[in-house]
Amino acid sequence: MTQEEATGPSRECDHVELPVTRQVASSIPDWTSPVLVVQHVRPDTAAFIQVLLEANIKVSTVVAIPYSSDDACVAKLSDSVRMLCPGLDEMSATAAAEVRALSQQDGRRVVVQDVGGYFADALRGDPTLGASIRGIAEETKQGLWRYRNLENCQFPVVQIADSRLKQIEARYVGAAVALSALEATRCIGNASIGERIAVVGYGDIGAACARTVRGIANTVYIWDTDPIQRIAAAADGFMIATPEEIVGNCRLIIGCTGKESVGQEWFADVSGDYYLASGSSRDIEFRRLLNWGAGRSQDYTISQYARRVPVTRIDLDLGRLHVLRGGLPINFESASLPYDIIDLVFAQLLVAMVEVELGDEVGLRGLSDDGQHGIASAWLSTHGATGHASIRNDFAKYAVRPS
Ligand SMILES: NC(=O)c1ccc[n+]([C@@H]2O[C@H](COP(=O)([O-])OP(=O)(O)OC[C@H]3O[C@@H](n4cnc5c(N)ncnc54)[C@H](O)[C@@H]3O)[C@@H](O)[C@H]2O)c1
Repeated sequence: MTQEEATGPSRECDHVELPVTRQVASSIPDWTSPVLVVQHVRPDTAAFIQVLLEANIKVSTVVAIPYSSDDACVAKLSDSVRMLCPGLDEMSATAAAEVRALSQQDGRRVVVQDVGGYFADALRGDPTLGASIRGIAEETKQGLWRYRNLENCQFPVVQIADSRLKQIEARYVGAAVALSALEATRCIGNASIGERIAVVGYGDIGAACARTVRGIANTVYIWDTDPIQRIAAAADGFMIATPEEIVGNCRLIIGCTGKESVGQEWFADVSGDYYLASGSSRDIEFRRLLNWGAGRSQDYTISQYARRVPVTRIDLDLGRLHVLRGGLPINFESASLPYDIIDLVFAQLLVAMVEVELGDEVGLRGLSDDGQHGIASAWLSTHGATGHASIRNDFAKYAVRPS
């Protein structure tokens, strides 16, 4: 599979504008610490790194997440910064070795911008790594959960994952997860309207996903291990169902828990075909199931016109489980967020990095209220209440260009 098949066509790096992020960057006093960034290297991220470099923030190295990074953007960024492209299993060790080397070269501790808690894993393996780290700015829930498990953290970790501002992004991600899963279903030749479809995990992304699936005339069944979330789903008008009831009623199951949620025990007695799509980071949602099924699985590709969906199929005694994109996030086949919302996320990430660079308080905390309100005001005055309309009317600017 080529990189393009894995991640979809890229939008052009030069055409992503991040005016609010740029505004934050222009207000930063002298930056001293070297910076290592772990990211999905896509056109939007490439633009973010460019904004940081132009503001004299010392980004030395970018570690590209393998399942989502784009060759053209990696190549373009490598003109300005050192790019590392390890495999998924080597991410933590590679990033950790690089931080040590950077800190030694520069004589200063390193600010890390992490996505998914790769450094939390490295620090658990080797706590002495902490001596090379000034602090960490973390973007995702997956990362937040991993940093929560770190004991005795001696530097600041500022996360934006559960900020009120970041929750706005989940509405778009959930919708993208739903649309990508339904599109894959349509490609296979199955109905994606008027069906019974399950969403597992009724958090920020699962709830947005469920609303979108329902919005195109499907009946949505919800399972969440947290009873309060199950009540919330019922109050929002969804069917709440046990795993047994889900498997008895639904052929498409979309996992949005960020945990190893759907396991082989769900399918003990089934026949026929089931399709599983993940909205969570990495390949975590169906990992337990995929590990269990390793000896009886095979990979194939659904091909319809220009669309290619890689699938891992697990054969049961009577049934078959089709894990779309091998359990990687289903929405990563194309862009999920409009650029004005990407601008909102990167502005938060940059404020988190500044709070790490300038702050002294050690341990894990969320982005400050002042930081969030400052970004919200800047976003409203830049993109405005009609920001979406003006961005979308300017669509041609962002269009994919023929190469
Ligand atoms: N696909 C993307 O583009 C993308 C973007 C951002 C974040 N994410 C990831 O999506 C995942 C979900 O994020 P979120 O913000 O919705 O998290 P969240 O904490 O708001 O929601 C997760 C929900 O899953 C439930 N849950 C946990 N374990 C479960 C289990 N075993 N079975 C059933 N329910 C279970 C929790 O009770 C919670 O309600 C995270 O891994 C996050 O990092 C994905």
